[in-house]
Amino acid sequence: MANILIRPPWHLPDSQITPESAYLRRREFLRSMGFIGGGLLTGLAAEAADAPKTAVPRNPEFDPKEPLSLEEAATSYNNFYEFSTSKTRVKELVGKFKTDPWTVEVAGLCEKPFKLDLTALTRDFSPEERVYRFRCVEAWAMVVPWTGFPLAKVIEKAQPKSEARFVSFTTALRPDEMPGIARLADYPWPYTEGLTLEEARHPLTLLATGIYGRPMPKQNGAPVRLVVPWKYGYKSIKSIVRIEFTAKQPATLWETLNPKEYPFESNVDPKVPHPRWSQSTERMVDTGDRVPTRYLNGYADLVGKLYPNRKT
Ligand code: MTE
Repeated sequence: MANILIRPPWHLPDSQITPESAYLRRREFLRSMGFIGGGLLTGLAAEAADAPKTAVPRNPEFDPKEPLSLEEAATSYNNFYEFSTSKTRVKELVGKFKTDPWTVEVAGLCEKPFKLDLTALTRDFSPEERVYRFRCVEAWAMVVPWTGFPLAKVIEKAQPKSEARFVSFTTALRPDEMPGIARLADYPWPYTEGLTLEEARHPLTLLATGIYGRPMPKQNGAPVRLVVPWKYGYKSIKSIVRIEFTAKQPATLWETLNPKEYPFESNVDPKVPHPRWSQSTERMVDTGDRVPTRYLNGYADLVGKLYPNRKT
């Protein structure tokens, strides 16, 4: 068990941890990040913006009908602790991370374990574009067009056994390519996450291989990550190498570190404050606008029935 007294920056509300936002006015902050006029796009954000667009159809079914967040913001302000605890530095530190070739192993309590390579991930499951709201536990949010396919398609192919109740996910562990790992030596690496099988099978749960019509940038979790839009962002694990069906609830990195603050379920709920800050509002990552947080991040109509015993 790692030392739960470790206090990484995102154990504080980001209004307190982002030095820029602590003392700059909103527009100055955005300009300094390169999100609005006059600012320089950082090298990697520019590189991501240069990658060719892939043509996949947008599925209008789940569209929140809200303005998309700026691509530069979504690809320059990242949580990826294997590289850095500084959101703005992740993109500068991902250069050595090799995401091609890549294999995702689908294993555990299933009839048909198999492996997915990059071609399978980007072609075999009829990728589509989906616009989702994304809400971090730190109370910032964005609206992002993801390219991907429902995790349910992988689950269907693997045929989980009747004993399978959960799905666990594991991120690549490559300390030589991930400079943040050595700095957080007490953390229970690799990064792991988990869902109930029912949550994993829900049509909203996406395996994403792209963002804004381009291949997934490394800082956002290339080549494949999970997106579970009704849960806090830490459930949306990046750069996945293993998907495993289990009978018992799997250990996850954040729950292992601090179960009171980062529990397994972690559904977005404005009525349940984080032990150290309110979750009733969220800051849009590019405009800085503060908006009310909604139960299940606005997806209650679709997934609310999975949680009939909600106590709040
Ligand atoms: N996955 C891994 N492997 N490592 C991480 O540090 N951070 C999580 C999640 N997935 C994280 C991760 C958190 S806290 C958030 S909010 C989202 O990724 C951020 O995704 P983004 O950088 O694409 O916005």
